[in-house]
Amino acid sequence: MTLSAPAAPPPASRHRDPYGVGLAYRFTVHREALAHRDEIDLLEISTEDYIVRERRTYADPDERLLREALSAFPCVAHGLSLSIGTVGEPPGHYLDATNRLLAETGMEVFSEHLAFHRVDGDDLTMFLAIPFEEAAVKWVAENYRFVRSRLGRPFALENVTYPFPVPHCPLDEAGFLRRVCEETDCTLLLDVTNVFNNSRNHGYDPVEFFERLPMERVSQMHLAGGFQHPNGRWEDSHSAPVMDEVWPLFDEAVRRAVNVRAIILERDSSLQPFDSVMDDLRKAREIFYSHRPLAAPFREDLPPIADGIPAPDPLAEDYAGLRGYQRALMGRIAKPAFREAYRENAEQAALEYGLADSVWLRRLADGDERSMRYFESSWDEFAKEDEEVAKEYEQREWAQWAEQLGRGGW
Ligand SMILES: [Fe+2]
Ligand SMILES: [Fe+2]
Repeated sequence: MTLSAPAAPPPASRHRDPYGVGLAYRFTVHREALAHRDEIDLLEISTEDYIVRERRTYADPDERLLREALSAFPCVAHGLSLSIGTVGEPPGHYLDATNRLLAETGMEVFSEHLAFHRVDGDDLTMFLAIPFEEAAVKWVAENYRFVRSRLGRPFALENVTYPFPVPHCPLDEAGFLRRVCEETDCTLLLDVTNVFNNSRNHGYDPVEFFERLPMERVSQMHLAGGFQHPNGRWEDSHSAPVMDEVWPLFDEAVRRAVNVRAIILERDSSLQPFDSVMDDLRKAREIFYSHRPLAAPFREDLPPIADGIPAPDPLAEDYAGLRGYQRALMGRIAKPAFREAYRENAEQAALEYGLADSVWLRRLADGDERSMRYFESSWDEFAKEDEEVAKEYEQREWAQWAEQLGRGGW
């Protein structure tokens, strides 16, 4: 990322430890956010908007809006592309770009998702559950330590919604989150809407879920709107007001999370009338400040971050089953030839990815079929769209050359 002709970067202390209730920043409501400065304590900046070239060009080409937002509000940063659960090479380019952005903006608080969505360069762009078992805990912990060292700061991990839990795993979601916290010094970004949706979609009690989490590790929370599909499935669409059922859960979560510092309301679309966003924000403020009128002391006790912690080895024996599972799962979604082979003889096909372990084979075979079909068809659709865009681009280039030639410009 290059902040073009940056004005003096905002003092780092401004973004060191934002406290209160704020908004996930969307450039489409830049003016509205500024107009409500007295009620919005902080903004969450999606780092993706500034490290993916196309998105930056679309959102804020000269980064003027970003600079204004940074000087008007304390800001925290939220990433999207880490895929910390992927047993594979780390996304070096993404980590470098994130580092640059954080350094240039002075933002200090960072968070990412506890999920996996990318395998061997294929990115599903939808979060999948990491298998809730010990090899995955070990991988996430090792990868967390590596990324923390690379970013030079601890960061929070967000619980995500997932279409189905990987079957035949010894832990459940709360147990997995707890184990990750035991093995790392990460904090949690607790997305309360995600807890609500997962609890309805996968049949667990959300308050008992809080009970089993180390709630003192929650440093940030998300709240978002959503809806229920006619098929019964709940979705966090980020396009509607926070659902009625989520508010009491949010209240319960804030009451328990004694160290929480930042609450972020996420709304990606249907941002007008902006009053409907502000209604949710005001409700969240009322609940937050009723429990947490004063900030808990900032965590000064964190161990120093060691430099140069190596990336975990994806080829290590400990991760063979998990890696094979992830590669074969993505093969079923993204590789038509593998799909075909898998349908004919699953065991034989899985060998292509070194997957021979019977437990992992069962986890792969018994994954939710409806979701798998949905992923397959979305992938094919995206691939077709990509092809059409590429073709259109090529045709446009040819047309430009032809025009140049016609004008004798060559
Ligand atoms: Fe998120
Ligand atoms: Fe979220």
